[in-house]
Amino acid sequence: MITIAIAKGRMQEGALALLARAGIRLDGDARNSRRLALTDESGEYRFIFVKPADVPVYVEHGIADCGVVGRDVLLESQADLLLPLDLGIARCRIVVAAADANVMTRSLGMLRVATKYSQIAGAHFGARGIPVEIIQLSGSVELAPALGLADLIVDLVETGRTLRENGLSVVEEIAESTGRLVVNRASYQLKSGPITALVQRLETVVNGPVNGGGEA
Ligand code: PRP
Repeated sequence: MITIAIAKGRMQEGALALLARAGIRLDGDARNSRRLALTDESGEYRFIFVKPADVPVYVEHGIADCGVVGRDVLLESQADLLLPLDLGIARCRIVVAAADANVMTRSLGMLRVATKYSQIAGAHFGARGIPVEIIQLSGSVELAPALGLADLIVDLVETGRTLRENGLSVVEEIAESTGRLVVNRASYQLKSGPITALVQRLETVVNGPVNGGGEA
């Protein structure tokens, strides 16, 4: 059996839809259940549903053979995983945002940056030689500038609505993020047949058949 860790939240629905198109389905009862570990209809795959940041942990430790998780989480975790496929789901951007779009040029002192992504933020400002104080939060990061906790945030933007409704705008983009299929290194060797088959099935759904069939 292949265990696939799925990031709960923004990734979950798209991941299950993609897997279903690849022929890997949960039955109706399972889809409506609150159980966090479920087996697909074929009995060949087990899904576990975990917090996004925990997907690389389960896969790197080999508890899950594969995972579906955003690139944002992977950049932050820096886990040692194989990354065979961009699934193209849950597309969003990792950005720097602020209430004052000129805050970076205006500020004389050290800027305070609130974020869930302290590694990404640290690397971004470090590479540009901008000294910042990183303030680690767990969510609702858009509140921090309005309440005086931070000058800037580094966070995900999908529609832009959360930024807008909290009086913030994008100062600069750090990276694009989409859902990725990740694979444990040892599983890729030990279960190479079923994992290669899974990657190929998903690849066909994401990119279309390799030979396309030819006809219009
Ligand atoms: C993410 C992100 C933004 C929001 C962006 O939050 O941190 O708050 O979605 O989406 P939008 O551009 O479409 O408005 P998430 O729902 O993952 O929750 P959290 O960061 O507060 O945990």
